[in-house]
Amino acid sequence: MRFQWRGAPVIVAALILAAFNLLAGCATQAHSAASKEYAPVVGQEGKDVIWVPTPQALVERMLQIAKTTPNDYVIDLGSGDGRTVITAAKKYGVRALGIEYNPDMVELSRRNAEKEGVADRAQFVHGDIFQTDFSKATVLTLYLLPNLNLKLRPTILNMKPGTRVVSHAFSMDDWQPDQTDTVEGRTAYLWIVPAKVEGSWRWGSARTYELVLRQHFQQIEGLVKADNKVAQFRDAKLQGDRITFSVIEFAGTGAVRRVFSGRVNGDTIEGVVKPSNGTGEEKWTATRVLD
Ligand SMILES: C[S@@+](CC[C@H](N)C(=O)[O-])C[C@H]1O[C@@H](n2cnc3c(N)ncnc32)[C@H](O)[C@@H]1O
Repeated sequence: MRFQWRGAPVIVAALILAAFNLLAGCATQAHSAASKEYAPVVGQEGKDVIWVPTPQALVERMLQIAKTTPNDYVIDLGSGDGRTVITAAKKYGVRALGIEYNPDMVELSRRNAEKEGVADRAQFVHGDIFQTDFSKATVLTLYLLPNLNLKLRPTILNMKPGTRVVSHAFSMDDWQPDQTDTVEGRTAYLWIVPAKVEGSWRWGSARTYELVLRQHFQQIEGLVKADNKVAQFRDAKLQGDRITFSVIEFAGTGAVRRVFSGRVNGDTIEGVVKPSNGTGEEKWTATRVLD
């Protein structure tokens, strides 16, 4: 007689049901994890620096001291939850980009930009700030660390003269800021990338000038000769590609001051000169010469 166990079909059915429930349970869990929004934690690890957000009031002040306009291109290095990029796009109508190493933060920033209705102008890339090209920025914002600022400094100094760089909390070592500002006890530093003007410059035909400039970031000092005679070089200022200085020449008992202002473009400076005796404004074009 063949043995027939009557309970077998029931057990098989129960096992199938249990397996089905298990699979269904896993699927539900996976679905709820995906639909639950990622919530970053202040102080969470980042590649080179942890995430700590800049307070919104300071974000706004940083963009303000950079004199952001709708024509700018703002890039935030280590953009966290995207607040600087989104604020720039919303408040100034600029195109802005965040570079962020944490992919979850990148996704969160994209969702935030979407919610704020600026996803077309506020964009985010997943990348390392030391491997990603940010040279097109006209306003660069950062909240990193002193050593990271210093590591970025050579790249920043090669950006287009006039680019504004604003850092929350941290300096650029011996590159003095052009401006500092404090909001709720937190400091923002502004630098304007200076043109490279070091070297010897010559200009003039009726009256010839030779100027040797020494440069330490935006600070410049010079030795000048007018018609081969030593003159005084005063009130020098370099801001981005704009340079101004006075040359004081002595003739007999009197002195004539000429105020030169111009725009640096590679090895050329073009501008106007105003003599203090009010004889009218003239154009000048200097070229850098090899020593
Ligand atoms: C102090 S938080 C500043 C966030 C944001 N800029 C702000 O001001 O609110 C620094 C951010 O840089 C990111 N980060 C760290 N190292 C990075 C790297 N090498 N490349 C890109 N992002 C980085 C961190 O994940 C973090 O979101």
